[in-house]
Amino acid sequence: MTDPVQTPIGVEPIGAEPIGAEPIGVAVLGMGNVGAEVVRILTDNAADIQARVGAPVVVRGVAVRDLTVPREGVDPALLTDDAAALVTRADIDIVVELIGGIDLPRTLIRQALEAGKSVVTANKALMAAHSGELSDAAARNRVDLYFEAAVAGAIPVIRPLTQSLAGDSVNRVAGIVNGTTNYILSEMAETGADYSDVLAEAGRLGYAEADPTADVEGYDAASKAAILASIAFHSRVTADDVYREGITKITPADLAAAAKFDCTVKLLAICERLNDGGTESISARVYPALIPLEHPLATVNGAFNAVVVESENAGRLMFYGQGAGGAPTAAAVMGDLVMAARNRVYSGRGPLESTYASLPIASIDDVQTRYYVAMKVADRPGVLAQVAGEFALNGVSIAAMRQEGAGDEARLTIVTHRAADRAQSETVAALEQMDTVIKVSSVLRMEGTNE
Ligand code: HSE
Repeated sequence: MTDPVQTPIGVEPIGAEPIGAEPIGVAVLGMGNVGAEVVRILTDNAADIQARVGAPVVVRGVAVRDLTVPREGVDPALLTDDAAALVTRADIDIVVELIGGIDLPRTLIRQALEAGKSVVTANKALMAAHSGELSDAAARNRVDLYFEAAVAGAIPVIRPLTQSLAGDSVNRVAGIVNGTTNYILSEMAETGADYSDVLAEAGRLGYAEADPTADVEGYDAASKAAILASIAFHSRVTADDVYREGITKITPADLAAAAKFDCTVKLLAICERLNDGGTESISARVYPALIPLEHPLATVNGAFNAVVVESENAGRLMFYGQGAGGAPTAAAVMGDLVMAARNRVYSGRGPLESTYASLPIASIDDVQTRYYVAMKVADRPGVLAQVAGEFALNGVSIAAMRQEGAGDEARLTIVTHRAADRAQSETVAALEQMDTVIKVSSVLRMEGTNE
């Protein structure tokens, strides 16, 4: 074990001779799907991991809530229900946090970092809320804090942003970062089924949790957007800074209407650097949006995730793969674990939070968006002119329009050009007050086009 006090971390560059081949002790907190896979991979691949790290990487303790539950593949002698004692134990170098939630893992990670342990976590909600204090604690104690698995499961996106693109300037990160909602929207688009029916099916197949709120209301994606925006723009962005709408109001009629505009609907997490006359800010937002069928994200279906990064010199990069599941998420955890272990052996240290830019967060009101508005209208002469007039009054230009049905069943769908979101939403509010508009049945944004 390398003692971070006796051997100042960061003194020797990575690539120097290993300080010793003392085993690296690992504590795993939480034995759900991901924890079990991490232990399995560490066991199955022990020889390769030792060769890559320069020392054996050994699980020395596994913290679980209930010691009576049998844990296949884990030596019972390693199990403990005292996570607090485990994370500060002298034979532990790296703590892998896979408990979930916020308060308990926050305390345990703080204790581990203060005790000089490096930490690997998959906890997006925690990192989206408290990355600042945890990163500060890691910096003070000269240890690593890695969280690749917190965003988009197996897909490498944190390391590309923090390391591969460290010399470039990222302008936009947009993606599908929630598999549950992507499964639901893909199925609705393909089968024409209702949201609630597809949600129930997703639950039966194990894609949706018993309480699907975090996924379907966009909280999970908002946490991931906060993490992505923070690292992409070197600023501290928390989940509360992310504008958020979920998918619960999407109807089969929206998906059918989207198809008629050669689009589909996806729940997107969008992180953008805005520039208003030289003044920069960050927009971080999560909402279901129409995207053109030819857009790279439109073909990402089922429970898959994908993230598109646009940067100044690298141009557009796309990352695609499995965003959830035991083994895929464990693969991302293992990448972090091997890096943290190597850093211990070679007295190196990975990057921590970088917030030097400190860009302010833009209000959704000021973001340029495109709207899709579906409404039931009275089908008589002059109605279209009145509706179009309301858009014009708010300075919003109409890009496309369709009418279907007639009489009481007339349904009007309008897609606008870009305008400030405030102008778009004020137009919708005014439409809702018009006598000739029976009901504004759906309002979505459109992304992936520059019109
Ligand atoms: N619940 C998430 C999803 C996976 O559906 O993609 C974990 O972040």
